[in-house]
Amino acid sequence: MGFDQKTVLITGGARGIGRAVAEKLFHAGANLVLADLAGSDGESTARSLDPSGNKVIFVACDVTQQDQVNHVVREATSIFGRLDGAVNNAGIGGAREPLVTYPEDDWNRVINVNLTGVFYCLKAELLAMLQAGSGSIVNIASMAGLKPFPLHPAYAASKHGVVGLSSSAAWEYAGKGIRVNAICPSFTKTAMVDELANYGPGMEEKLMRSIPMRRLGTTGEIADAIVWLLSDEASFVTGVALPVSGGM
Ligand code: NAI
Repeated sequence: MGFDQKTVLITGGARGIGRAVAEKLFHAGANLVLADLAGSDGESTARSLDPSGNKVIFVACDVTQQDQVNHVVREATSIFGRLDGAVNNAGIGGAREPLVTYPEDDWNRVINVNLTGVFYCLKAELLAMLQAGSGSIVNIASMAGLKPFPLHPAYAASKHGVVGLSSSAAWEYAGKGIRVNAICPSFTKTAMVDELANYGPGMEEKLMRSIPMRRLGTTGEIADAIVWLLSDEASFVTGVALPVSGGM
């Protein structure tokens, strides 16, 4: 899959799934804009891929702030000329609590990052892609966006929201040369799952038992599906929410 001369923005690109996508796209020839809250991780991911700084830049960004998201997209288009692809991947887990006692602060934080953040990113990215006349966007939802995820009401609601937002945006922009898809991973070995595993002994085994393949996904496996959806090889695919889930 060739990404020569293409520019892709990845939110949450400092680590985890976002970093794995960055590695694959860089080796496929893309220019990359990594946007993340985590400044030092983001800068070191960018420099470890491309010490010269000519093809990979890091821009500090909180996706819950529309002006910061707009700034990242402006940087992408002014430095690299245009925006061809975007992976809206930044996300957080939030508390693990029964709905009746679920803290409102966590509700607001999770919805703001996972859902409103994707909305802000779509607005800025679609405007840039409309100018260019084409583009491909992949939003990272979750299996929790397709089925219940008890004790994580905000996360489940945010990811169901991402699935609905993605397919609606796909319809709206299908006639303008822009594809919008979502990826729905099941549990994948990253800091986010390490956090879940901290909820008690045997938690990681419990997560694995919920997956028919009886193992966690790797960031590389999720990234492969994201890169495919982003690429021209998926040129007739838009509006899907693709499970990458070991059969879940
Ligand atoms: P991670 O915690 O390793 O990475 C998330 C990245 O997002 C971090 O670099 C973090 O600094 C960044 N981030 C968080 N809040 C941000 C904000 N407000 N603005 C900008 N950047 C922000 O997590 P992981 O596992 O790589 O998750 C990536 C995406 O995949 C998330 O949307 C997550 O919900 C989704 N996902 C993860 C699964 C898993 O099991 N790891 C399963 C299903 C979906």
